[in-house]
Amino acid sequence: MEKKNLDWSNIGFTYMTTDKRYVSNFKNGKWDAGELTEDSTVVLNECAGILQYCQECFEGLKAYTTADGSIVTFRPDLNAERMMGSAAWLEMPIFPKERFLEAVDQVVAANAAWVPPYGSGATLYLRPYMFATGPVIGVKPSSEYQFRLFGTPVGPYFKGGVKPLTLCVSDFDRAAPHGTGHIKAGLNYAMSLHASEMAHMRGYDENLFPDSATRTYVEETGGANFLFVTRDHEVVTPASDSILPSITRRSLVYVAEHYLGLKVTQRKVKISELSDFAECGLCGTAAVISPVGKIVDHGKEICFESGMEEMGEITKKLYDTLTGIQMGTIEAPEGWIRKIL
Ligand code: PLP
Ligand code: COI
Repeated sequence: MEKKNLDWSNIGFTYMTTDKRYVSNFKNGKWDAGELTEDSTVVLNECAGILQYCQECFEGLKAYTTADGSIVTFRPDLNAERMMGSAAWLEMPIFPKERFLEAVDQVVAANAAWVPPYGSGATLYLRPYMFATGPVIGVKPSSEYQFRLFGTPVGPYFKGGVKPLTLCVSDFDRAAPHGTGHIKAGLNYAMSLHASEMAHMRGYDENLFPDSATRTYVEETGGANFLFVTRDHEVVTPASDSILPSITRRSLVYVAEHYLGLKVTQRKVKISELSDFAECGLCGTAAVISPVGKIVDHGKEICFESGMEEMGEITKKLYDTLTGIQMGTIEAPEGWIRKIL
């Protein structure tokens, strides 16, 4: 199969229309059979639930070309399960796990020419999502929905690749206690846009959102979880009920413990203890692990010992091991890799 003629090593994290996407509709209480389509447009009723009351959830995962030329996805079962949880929370129908996995396989196989080659640093980003298509004017769940899944080739999420980022502690809230922070709903991202534009205007790459109730604990950024490393090489990840349970973070915790023999603690992390850490990274499907060099808390600069030039030593080991597992150069734990082609 011939690959598309793209400058794979220099693509950014932007949308590109690929050949085929998967669509399934929910009507009269059931999902239809679903199919691949070449049509990248969505036509909606003016009163569709997604347009009026933002009833939508989504996922993000990647397809990789491995060292031996296979095309694989990484733990797509966890994306399927998380989307089931997001849908339930938003009073949407569940898209069954097996159907989700089938849709992933079909879209990746149909767009194999768009899966970046091994070693290019790029991947095929997959975006499954579900939204209310039925009309609603009173505030209530819709009775009709659409599930879609497309792929788009992407490079690094943050410009500059592995250059450490500078974050600021946000004055805005991302997620309320007992709210929607733990699910992957578009509404969480809509409300982070103002905060992120403000941060960018002030020269920061991203926001660190503190917990909304006390503003004293580290939650996450707009699109990734935090991971810290202490001076004696213990990995610490913030625990909270209002952050997204990142699949990358959960995988890194396993990698740290079982591949690198590191101690890992998942606990609440105070903003006031940030200066005790030697390394900091943002982890997520898009972010992979992006190193953080500095966090500015209302004028107070917290500079991590790993500096502003490169990834910290442990962060780099975690990055190399995780990406090695994804690209097939390091043996994966049972069930982590789903081979498609
Ligand atoms: N936190 C937020 C808010 C996200 O949008 C993402 C991206 O999916 C993550 C964390 C990382 O999650 P995952 O590793 O499952 O991609
Ligand atoms: C992902 O990492 O898949 C996300 O959905 C994060 C988003 C900010 C691109």
